[in-house]
Amino acid sequence: MEKNKILVTGGLGYIGSHTTLALQAAGYEVVIVDNLSNSQADMLDRIAAISGIKPALAQFDLCEEAALDQFFAEHANLGGIIHFAAFKAVGESVAQPLNYYKNNLLSLMLLLEKMQKYAVPYLVFSSSCTVYGEPESLPVTEAAPVQKATSPYGNTKQISEEIIQDVLKAQPALQAIALRYFNPVGAHESGQIGELPLGVPNNLMPFITQTAIGLRSELKVFGHDYDTPDGTCIRDYIHVMDLAEAHVIALQRLMEKKNRANYEFFNLGTGQGSTVLEVIASFERTSGQKLNYQLTERRPGDVVKIYADTALANEVLGWKARRNLDEMTRSAWQWEQNYRGQ
Ligand code: NAD
Ligand code: WQD
Repeated sequence: MEKNKILVTGGLGYIGSHTTLALQAAGYEVVIVDNLSNSQADMLDRIAAISGIKPALAQFDLCEEAALDQFFAEHANLGGIIHFAAFKAVGESVAQPLNYYKNNLLSLMLLLEKMQKYAVPYLVFSSSCTVYGEPESLPVTEAAPVQKATSPYGNTKQISEEIIQDVLKAQPALQAIALRYFNPVGAHESGQIGELPLGVPNNLMPFITQTAIGLRSELKVFGHDYDTPDGTCIRDYIHVMDLAEAHVIALQRLMEKKNRANYEFFNLGTGQGSTVLEVIASFERTSGQKLNYQLTERRPGDVVKIYADTALANEVLGWKARRNLDEMTRSAWQWEQNYRGQ
């Protein structure tokens, strides 16, 4: 019988919570490990309100080996693992590099160790398009070289991919898929869960919705003299539910032994680049709100343009992003309004 209990680390976070819903919709039982370092326990009730099923939560730090070992001992029949748990703030990682290296790498290493010890063979890992840096040609394919990371956070993703590959070479029974996300945005169609950054958001979409709702006075558009059609940077924004569904497909690929190698990696994007001003225009169109923004100086370290070649994920995984930019901005705004009770 197929083991259908899946461990989702970081399952209370932004992408993990949406993926939990996608897994439940596909018939899986989800067990979450999360230490609430960047999330809140009431996410469990939010998930239950949408799906009717409250996932089990084991609240501990994945870097605590004894707790992790006990968790695996108590969950003997895990079918696979989706590993989201990590710290992800680029600026913070520059200020606190050791926290990032320790949290993101130790948690992964301990997880891989427990996978071997408890014979859980399948891992889906959250990687990032940040590994490509400023790509030499666009759209960026998986064959593009990984560039030297510009932040400790980015470096943890590169090193994590290397650690997984090295471990899999030595342990051919383990199978993994790394998914390189482009820019995840938007929220579940219910409007009941979404992105909830602590403090002032670094990312564009939550900054837009928090400005529109009145929490921030204005959005600063970082740079307007880049070599792009309107002078602002280009990114490949992807709806978080498209991303969530890709995780279910990747996991199934492993569980059904359809993978072609024991380590595979895929870009997850729409293939469509959008400028910052195009995102703002979409937000204004779908929300009916005029956004208060100002064109300001460049943000140091920003990549100018990046968007994905999605052919590999389309053809090999059989997955394609279905939701467009307007659905991303509409759902992000609906979530912001619901969350603030407006
Ligand atoms: P998030 O911060 O919303 O979720 C991460 C969750 O992991 C949080 O609930 C946090 O409490 C938990 N966590 C962190 N360290 C932990 C630990 N040591 N033990 C237990 N729980 C721990 O982040 P997200 O946006 O959902 O990102 C999920 C993953 O995707 C991360 O690995 C991130 O680096 C990666 N990623 C995110 C983006 C993005 O823009 N959001 C882009 C590319 C890759
Ligand atoms: C998008 C665009 C900004 C805020 C970061 C991480 C990366 C990845 C995703 C995980 C850029 C512009 C933003 C604002 C703005 N995470 N912007 N005003 O820079 O692509 O990547 O998140 O792996 O590692 O670096 O995303 O949302 O910060 O910015 O004008 O207040 O919006 O300059 O062009 P980015 P972002």
